[in-house]
Amino acid sequence: MSDKAISDHSPQGPKGKLLTGHLKEFQSDPLEFLTRLTTEYGDVAKIRFGPFQNVYLISDPDLIKQVLVTKQKHFVKSRDFHALKPIIGEGLLTSEKELHMRQRRLIQPAFRKTHIVNYGQDMIDITTNYISTWKDGEERMITQDMMSMALGIISKTMFSMDFEEGYDVLGEPIETAMRTAVKRMRTLLQPPLWVPTRSNREYKNAIHELDKVLFEIIDKRREDAEKQEDMLGILMDARDDEDGLGMTDTQVRDELMTIFLAGHETTANALSWTLYLLSQHPEVESKLFHEIENVIGNRLPAPEDFKNLTYTQNIIWESLRLYPPGFVTGREVDEDVDIGGYHFKKGDMILVSQYVMHHKQEYFDNPESFYPERFENNFAKTIPAYAYFPFGGGPRVCIGNHFAMMEAVLVLVCISQRYRLRIAPDHHEVTPYPSITLRPKRGLRMIVEERNETGFQPEATEI
Ligand code: HEM
Repeated sequence: MSDKAISDHSPQGPKGKLLTGHLKEFQSDPLEFLTRLTTEYGDVAKIRFGPFQNVYLISDPDLIKQVLVTKQKHFVKSRDFHALKPIIGEGLLTSEKELHMRQRRLIQPAFRKTHIVNYGQDMIDITTNYISTWKDGEERMITQDMMSMALGIISKTMFSMDFEEGYDVLGEPIETAMRTAVKRMRTLLQPPLWVPTRSNREYKNAIHELDKVLFEIIDKRREDAEKQEDMLGILMDARDDEDGLGMTDTQVRDELMTIFLAGHETTANALSWTLYLLSQHPEVESKLFHEIENVIGNRLPAPEDFKNLTYTQNIIWESLRLYPPGFVTGREVDEDVDIGGYHFKKGDMILVSQYVMHHKQEYFDNPESFYPERFENNFAKTIPAYAYFPFGGGPRVCIGNHFAMMEAVLVLVCISQRYRLRIAPDHHEVTPYPSITLRPKRGLRMIVEERNETGFQPEATEI
């Protein structure tokens, strides 16, 4: 839709309930609801959350670009992110305007290519160690395995914590805090945190526990004379070019928590979906095995292999297309703005949905099929920008996008060099469950099959 096509009417949408609007429909099946909205009401559809909150779903690549990039100054992050503030404070995901820009400048160096190659070795070490105990024929809860592995990887790359240590001290409080935060994000009216409900008490205890661990780590590091090349070391050394100042301990804590949260569940879900898709598409799986054999053979993978694993990268791109972990992105209008011929007022909420866009027939032939080959020959550059955007875009584009791609490819390769995974015979139908990120509903149980044909002999690894 052209921006010039000034319309004399406001965007259309279904009639909602008087008090709740469309909140219930959105919450009960957001993927189906958002897809239906686009199909029935076009590129800009109007709904309501609660009695007064106007919400617009925008589903045209050029208009999405205006929201995320060219007119982004008119927006702030949507209000539901405020529910995460007790956990992540004023970290990158929640901070706004100058503070966000400053923090982004300070943190960006930790995600430079050279560092990501170093993290790549940690990714390989953690994965090979984790999967070394998998037994031929056993059934595993793969969604849980991917979560534990991703948590181990982020703990190691961020603060050089051993896998078990990271999981022991952070795993449980994070899970409790996130469970409550999601509940708070999804409820219109919630008791403020000072009301001593059971859930508020649990939430506050979990946050207290996390704070204790993180401030201890930061304190210890401040006392430590020896420099460490992990993310924490880079964040603590960072100085702003403009004012020469670094981050306070609270800022370091908020950013650690943010990266920690944003950086494990997303990638874990991407990996779970990929393993599921491979189990359903043996023809793609054998091409993957073939590429691993050609590029790596029988040795252990190395971070430098990443660039040569092009088919594997396309498998991940295609999996992120079908099941984008960040399936919807929200913004709130901070200053009135015109987009696509419509006027949006301060306080309006705008949604753009990766899931909706990635499944559009106009940009993707047979959108429901799993076909990594479509990403060959720079396919993503041949479709409009923001028809495909698993990592968002503009100044708030995912800071961990290269990290995530490196991790997804290396973990997948380490697993596939040794094993193939099959869905357990009595498995329920696998369907997506949109929580904060898109995950397989009720988890993924898979049977491990050792790939004897590879003759792969893992070297002993020490982590
Ligand atoms: C497949 C994995 C991942 C996906 C699909 C993903 C997706 C996204 C998306 C869509 C956004 C933009 C949200 C918005 O505009 O409101 C985002 C932001 C962010 N992501 Fe990721 N992410 C992934 C992995 C990671 C990893 C591994 C890290 C860190 C190690 C990370 C850290 C962040 C941070 C800090 C932000 C906030 C950036 C800002 O606002 O400046 N993400 N991610």
